[in-house]
Amino acid sequence: MDFLKQIALPQSEAQIGVLYFVLNVIDFLLLPFISYVFGALVLSLYHNRKGRMHNDPLAQRFAKEMIDHILPNKSILLLFGVVPFMAMTFAYAQLLQDTAALSVSILGWGLLLLAAASAFASSYRYALTFSDMLEAVPGKSNDKVEEYKAQMLETRRTSGKYALLFLSAAVYCMIAGRSLAVHPNSWDTVSNAVQLLFSLDVLSKLLQFVVLSFSMATIGMLFFTFSWQGGTKDLTPEYSEYVRSSTLPIGLISLLSLPLFVVLSVVLLPVVSLTATVFFFAFLVIFFVFLASHSVYGMIKEFKASYAAKAFYLFTLAVFALVLHGTSALAGATKTSSAVLAHRYVLHHEELLAAMGINLTVLTGEEIFTAKCSACHEFGVKKVGPAYKDVLPKYESDRTRLVTFVLNPMKVDPAFPPMPNQGLKPAEADSIAAYIMTMYKQQK
Ligand code: HEC
Repeated sequence: MDFLKQIALPQSEAQIGVLYFVLNVIDFLLLPFISYVFGALVLSLYHNRKGRMHNDPLAQRFAKEMIDHILPNKSILLLFGVVPFMAMTFAYAQLLQDTAALSVSILGWGLLLLAAASAFASSYRYALTFSDMLEAVPGKSNDKVEEYKAQMLETRRTSGKYALLFLSAAVYCMIAGRSLAVHPNSWDTVSNAVQLLFSLDVLSKLLQFVVLSFSMATIGMLFFTFSWQGGTKDLTPEYSEYVRSSTLPIGLISLLSLPLFVVLSVVLLPVVSLTATVFFFAFLVIFFVFLASHSVYGMIKEFKASYAAKAFYLFTLAVFALVLHGTSALAGATKTSSAVLAHRYVLHHEELLAAMGINLTVLTGEEIFTAKCSACHEFGVKKVGPAYKDVLPKYESDRTRLVTFVLNPMKVDPAFPPMPNQGLKPAEADSIAAYIMTMYKQQK
């Protein structure tokens, strides 16, 4: 899937800004939708099985309506699932084009798996609807009808199972690829997707996804059954009771455990990705989840349809905050590589201008060195800071890390005081890093 990165183009700082915006919009569609479908599939399969084993029409109806609400027709999965997933993959290919990160290939596989999942899911949905129609065939059933019924049951079981299997794999790719993107330190070390299965961050995000999807599916089910457009038609008291008892406890438990995973995801973020916005949106998620769980609890104590709507809208706000939380972490993690990209774009632009005979003066690496670094550094001897010959070897293979250090110096060697931030612009940091590295290599 390496070809995905090759189609990416150099981009200016403004274009990168637009990309983050686009990513937010994509996630607003993709995350709630995919998690809803996942939760709905699991619950529907469970109730479908229960309905089959005990010949329970309430469970069968639940299994069918659970899917009907989120997949009312065939193209929904394509429109809200596959298309945004594809757009997301391209956006990441743009953002990470200059890095060694494997994220984009992993996302590419996720896209294929999701396409397969959506084919199976629509066959599952179709089989559920068809069984329903067969049940409604008037008069005494004959062999032919019985045969069809058996066939549909089989299709239901297998296609539902495969849909869930492929969807889980797609979700894994989505989470693994995106988790890797916010961990710049692992970009060079992770060489295959399975390695990420053992990453604490990926595991905690997978669990977070499962909890999120159960909250989505149960709150969604309550909302569509009792509130949306006056609620489901021909709602019998038995079925109402069945829906309530099958959703409320799961909904409440998963809602209450969601904040735990949000906190965990903040704790597991690398320092570079931690910004004030990351904390702010994490706080908002927890705030809205708390309000939503309040409504769900209210429904357990005394059932009112208006609570279902309230829980649904509040939870939607929580999911939006979760998306913004994720994108701000990504923006933090890719800050340096974006800056380098933008700098490349500027250079590219200048070359073009120079070729046309237009001359621009820019500060060279050497000038920055004399003005900002030479007071404390020399190449061969230690001054206030270490000699470059002692500290540059570890950056030889990774200039981006050197740029990151210069932009945001951190404590390294206890024998030295901390290096003060020189307040360089990303493009300047890129030039000075290139300059000292070249000089160091020449002197070696
Ligand atoms: C006021 C003094 C001072 C200035 C100015 C300064 N540095 Fe430093 N620099 C230090 C000190 C002190 C350290 C050691 C920090 C540590 O080990 O925690 C250091 C460490 C470094 C390191 C080694 C980092 C590592 O991983 O060990 C690099 C590279 C570096 N500086 C580059 C620069 C560049 C490039 C500039 C100019 C833009 C610069 N420094 C300006 C004081 C300075």
